[in-house]
Amino acid sequence: MAKMSKARLVRAAAQARKRAVAPYSKFHVGAALLTQSGEIITGANVESASYGLTCCAERVALFTALTSGKKGFVAVAVVARTRSEPMPCGACRQLLAEYAPDAKVYVADSRAPNRLREFAVQDLLPEAFPDVR
Ligand code: THU
Repeated sequence: MAKMSKARLVRAAAQARKRAVAPYSKFHVGAALLTQSGEIITGANVESASYGLTCCAERVALFTALTSGKKGFVAVAVVARTRSEPMPCGACRQLLAEYAPDAKVYVADSRAPNRLREFAVQDLLPEAFPDVR
């Protein structure tokens, strides 16, 4: 993907991060999905007092996108304020493997958005179930 649109996607994730609802962990995460047609769909993490109900930014973005009829995801950016990159958790990797199997994953610290690291969904969850390929 062109460097410019990577930057645009990371910026969208950084913007979305501002809408995180994370009163318990105070760890604010933003995610932005890019479709083949160039649309960007964003999400941020939402936490519950019943901690286990918390939903990560990646899944909020993915559920929003899917229930808006979007498909053909080519990339997802994830941004948080963290020295190590905000790597998607196992649950999010599963959902990404199912609904965005061909996507690239860009992760970045919100304070250094240009220093992103890049992965492939395929590599983050090898031998995923079910075999959708
Ligand atoms: N979180 C995300 O939103 N995405 C990730 O990739 C990792 C973790 C959220 C869940 C929870 O609200 C907070 O970060 C702390 O785990």
